[in-house]
Amino acid sequence: MSKAFDIGIEALATASPCEPPAAPAQTSPAGASGFRANEIPASAPNGKSFYIETFGCQMNAHDSEKVAGVLIERGYAAAESMAQADLVLYNTCSIREKAAQKVFSRLGELRYASPRKVIGVLGCVAQQEGEEIFERAPWVSLVCGSASYRKLPELVARLDEGGRRVTGLDLDTDETFETEITRRDNPIRAYLTIIEGCDYACSYCVVPHTRGPERSRASESVLAEARRLAGAGYTEIQLLGQTVNSYRDPSPRGLHFVELLREVAAVDGIRRVRFTTSHPNDFHRAIVEAIDDTPALCDHVHLPVQSGSTPILRAMRRTYTRDEYLEKISWIRAARRPISITSDIIVGFPGETEKDFEQSITLLDAVGYDSIFSFKYSPRPNTSAAAMPDAVPEEEKAARLAILMDRQRQIQIARNEKLVGGTFEVLVDGRHESRNQWAGRTTSNRPVNFTSPRQNLLGEYVQVKITRASANSVAGEQVI
Ligand code: 5AD
Ligand code: SF4
Repeated sequence: MSKAFDIGIEALATASPCEPPAAPAQTSPAGASGFRANEIPASAPNGKSFYIETFGCQMNAHDSEKVAGVLIERGYAAAESMAQADLVLYNTCSIREKAAQKVFSRLGELRYASPRKVIGVLGCVAQQEGEEIFERAPWVSLVCGSASYRKLPELVARLDEGGRRVTGLDLDTDETFETEITRRDNPIRAYLTIIEGCDYACSYCVVPHTRGPERSRASESVLAEARRLAGAGYTEIQLLGQTVNSYRDPSPRGLHFVELLREVAAVDGIRRVRFTTSHPNDFHRAIVEAIDDTPALCDHVHLPVQSGSTPILRAMRRTYTRDEYLEKISWIRAARRPISITSDIIVGFPGETEKDFEQSITLLDAVGYDSIFSFKYSPRPNTSAAAMPDAVPEEEKAARLAILMDRQRQIQIARNEKLVGGTFEVLVDGRHESRNQWAGRTTSNRPVNFTSPRQNLLGEYVQVKITRASANSVAGEQVI
């Protein structure tokens, strides 16, 4: 599970905002289209089709599901491929430089596409580059950042009427993006945004600039969506937000994050509730207590630390020290349930000395993460760290990343080996035909591959006895 990413080009992610895709299910219990029955109402077709390519994080993956819903509502049909589509949308990521570069190289491939094809850029690159995109790629007609997705129906209507250049680039919003329908691409796990944007100001991060200020959704709207999802047959919901645990209900009920968690977990039919990404600053004991006494809340907390060195954390403006972070970890470790902990770590932040880096390595041992996502620091426009002195050379960043990943790999092997002989509940989400194995996840989000004499297990909860462990997953057989 330990992985390093320079580019985040993923379709369906699992835990971190920039985590790689979950193994996609090869057949969908929701039907060949991958949609669950009552999620997509019929609308009058307008004869046009769309295709969305998604880069980056889970928030983006879920935004694309909602954008697809907006288009389906307007009568668009989902095209099988980009070549067949009348409207092509790139939902982009700019968290690290390579991710942003990749978007422009993909856009370049459409330079000679038919002029009848309408091309749009959504997401973080759209927000960051704005109308400059029209200069760099004049074949683009739509540029819209995520804080303006509320305007998408209107922007698409203008394109339908022949509009050549439409933009949605306002960041100044207190609205969230809600649609009547969402095209869910993952038939096993349903994503549900509860908070958008970010009010922190981590010095390396583009998100406050690209996604705008923090906006929480009204609890009633979140709960209504959770009930609809349960009604459509979903049993697992993942609550999403850049800082999901900063949630504060804007409606008169004024629920705190933990209260919302408990209410979502109490929705009839929901068996697993996940949430990501938690900011350590807003991580309180009450979250651990809720996990401890609510079986439907999953045994997993993704709590990005970013660095193990207090001076670097200060330079990153993370608002906590190494010791404060470790104190929160001790609450999690003191829980009655064995809660798995994962994290994001950046190496080579400006000014990171050998000693600072060593602190990140010792933190890995002190916490004993089940998985981490590790990144080389990448300077980004509109961030204060971009102007900081004492850049760490690229080769040094690469060397530190390799050391970090190697250490984490050892930790994961040791942690996973302890599971051998145990039996765990697994929600089945895929099938490896060539290996004759099913794939799924435990409540703690650990990937499990297993054999079974049974057929048609997708979407089922099964008991699996673990017989083997590796760094990134465990393997076993179904207990019948
Ligand atoms: N360089 C490297 N990694 C970054 N992240 C965010 N911004 C940067 C950057 N400029 C990482 C953080 C964050 C994850 C989603 O991406 O670890 O938690
Ligand atoms: Fe970026 Fe920091 Fe906000 Fe996370 S909390 S999205 S790292 S600014």
